[in-house]
Amino acid sequence: APPPPPPRPTCGWPYTSLLSGRCGLRGRLRGGLASTSLPIASSSGRAGRDWVDFGLAEPHTVLFHEPGSSSVWVGGRGKVYLFNFPEGKNASMRTVSPDPSDCENYITLLEKQGDGLLICGTNARRPSCWSLVNGTVESLGEKRGYAPFSPDENSLVLFDGDEVYSTIRKQEYNGKIPRFRRIQGEIELYTSDTVMQNPQFIKATIVHQDQAYDDKIYYFFREDNPDKNPEAPLNVSRVAQLCRGDQGGESSLSVSKWNTFLKAMLVCSDVTTNKNFNRLQDVFLLPDPNGQWRDTRVYGVFSNPWNYSAVCVYSLGDIDRVFRTSSLKGYHMSLPNPRPGKCLPDRQPIPTETFQVADSHPEVAQRVEPMGPLKTPLFHSKYHYQKVVVHRMQASSGETFHVLYLTTDRGTIHKVVESGERERSLVFNIMEIQPFHHPAAIQAMSLDAERRKLYVSSQWEVSQVPLDLCEVYGGGCHGCLMARDPYCGWDQGRCVSIYSSQASMLQSIHPAEPHKECPNPKPDKAPLQKVSLAQNSRYYLSCPMESRHATYSWRHQENVEQTCEPGHQSPNCILFIENLTARQYGHYHCEAQEGSYFHEAQHWELLPEDGATAEHLLGHARALAASLWLCILPTLALGLLVH
Ligand SMILES: *[C@@H]1O[C@H](CO)[C@@H](O)[C@H](O)[C@H]1NC(C)=O
Ligand SMILES: *[C@@H]1O[C@H](CO)[C@@H](O)[C@H](O)[C@H]1NC(C)=O
Ligand SMILES: *[C@@H]1O[C@H](CO)[C@@H](O)[C@H](O)[C@H]1NC(C)=O
Ligand SMILES: *[C@@H]1O[C@H](CO)[C@@H](O)[C@H](O)[C@H]1NC(C)=O
Ligand SMILES: *[C@@H]1O[C@H](CO)[C@@H](O)[C@H](O)[C@H]1NC(C)=O
Repeated sequence: APPPPPPRPTCGWPYTSLLSGRCGLRGRLRGGLASTSLPIASSSGRAGRDWVDFGLAEPHTVLFHEPGSSSVWVGGRGKVYLFNFPEGKNASMRTVSPDPSDCENYITLLEKQGDGLLICGTNARRPSCWSLVNGTVESLGEKRGYAPFSPDENSLVLFDGDEVYSTIRKQEYNGKIPRFRRIQGEIELYTSDTVMQNPQFIKATIVHQDQAYDDKIYYFFREDNPDKNPEAPLNVSRVAQLCRGDQGGESSLSVSKWNTFLKAMLVCSDVTTNKNFNRLQDVFLLPDPNGQWRDTRVYGVFSNPWNYSAVCVYSLGDIDRVFRTSSLKGYHMSLPNPRPGKCLPDRQPIPTETFQVADSHPEVAQRVEPMGPLKTPLFHSKYHYQKVVVHRMQASSGETFHVLYLTTDRGTIHKVVESGERERSLVFNIMEIQPFHHPAAIQAMSLDAERRKLYVSSQWEVSQVPLDLCEVYGGGCHGCLMARDPYCGWDQGRCVSIYSSQASMLQSIHPAEPHKECPNPKPDKAPLQKVSLAQNSRYYLSCPMESRHATYSWRHQENVEQTCEPGHQSPNCILFIENLTARQYGHYHCEAQEGSYFHEAQHWELLPEDGATAEHLLGHARALAASLWLCILPTLALGLLVH
């Protein structure tokens, strides 16, 4: 008896739900599609295993990786794990328990300290630290501000030499008012309780400016919108500034407060489509390669109330200029001298009048807008991105690209390429990576730009992801080049990493005439696949759009039945057949065209059901296997690319 036909996929059908379907299927390597499940990729392309299980669930993880090393520290519940990822070998794990007696010690901070590691955790609501030197743990006792009271609490700790800053709460317990405070170093300064409303802290950084007295602390946060107009969003995204050399004020009110606090609104909206993204999710700072602090790129991931996302890029120079030049919101008199927010040299105290104006009007009127002539997002997308890291890299031609790695709420990573040098920046999504052995939400992510690895943790495992995953691109030379992955090129018959290959490799990331250098200019025709179908059945044919730059069309005899342009919402070009008629049987070709380059991607023959044989069932199974991609691949579509 022939085997029973495989079950229909339970999602992606009926096709009206295609783009919103969620089915938890995991990507698998198939036919050069730009989607990869990492453990599979590593087992095919690498000698060792690139992931390790904790062996139990770790509901909160924090990750510390020192660039250049092959190991990564992970803080969990009552434990610190050390993972090692040696080249070509299986990854390994060791653990250290700072205080084995206490399970309610969630490690929330790992930081290098001299030759050792500083470990801080909640320690049953008595935030404490330990130092780990040469394999020996030493208790540093209770350290308020180095860790929150509970692992869910929103907190940040920032180190700069001997100085430590923290988003510590006002009272030890039941503390409702978060503050940004210097907890070690010079005078312990904190923010006034009125300058932020219910802040959620995202990221803090120190920026060393041209003059040491001008060094700034910037921190990014969301807060409740003071504008209670029903049309206005509930939350606004902010950047705040402080002078690192702030000495506090002279009056009893200002003596232990920051005297240089100012905040500005971070705008991420697309004026042409009137789409606003108000909720800042994550920030990544990409320093300028020439060391110009003003040219540091600040990547912000935002979302809107429907959980769509946008990425906006700001420059530190613009942020600095807004704070230096803007008037204060709601303050209509002339500004005192020195103006609020100005850092003074020689440890001069800020005059009380300047403090009072800034303290009562902490927001500047000007808003911080994205870089570029249009001041619009780099792109927006219907996926809910949470974290971002950015790698600046050079393709074999020497051209610079910024490659964004964005975590989705489905536990995958999207790799998005931003061409850095052209006037009109070009953005394209090239790959979705499922980094884990057991699919799960991504809790932490760290980039090693030097070794070109990404480290990610879930509650189950830690995984190392190479940035140059080239073996996943099938389709020979054309498939390799059509992927437009700046890390990959064609060399000696294989799609290889630019870091492992000679200068002779073929790469084309902006081709006007793509891939004409490929040794085989016209790839073979797609293999014929057959499927038997009853009349009046409902069916669809799906053609993966391997290139985001080609136009794909489905042709039946001489008629083009469906065309999918680049930028198509779904990463598959799908031809729906609502009700199969006699004249709709026959051959269907999916053809990709890009400039003068032409390629047949799929070839199907739809046969009447009466001729059904085992071969047809096989064909049917293949059709269904292809259709499973419908569930996964919509995650690849970036939606509208703005530029
Ligand atoms: C990695 O571990 C697997 C079993 O878990 C083993 O089969 C394989 O040989 C190991 N590979 C290396 C390079 O040690
Ligand atoms: C670390 O331990 C090794 C041997 O276990 C010892 O030789 C070395 O001196 C120690 N280093 C420090 C800084 O204690
Ligand atoms: C956003 O605003 C609402 C309403 O004011 C508030 O409940 C919520 O905590 C705010 N969220 C953030 C992250 O600021
Ligand atoms: C957006 O995502 C958050 C969690 O990330 C979830 O709680 C919320 O329900 C989502 N909102 C919508 C409209 O899907
Ligand atoms: C398909 O077409 C036939 C006749 O043309 C009709 O009887 C049948 O109801 C249609 N089926 C569907 C699902 O629309």
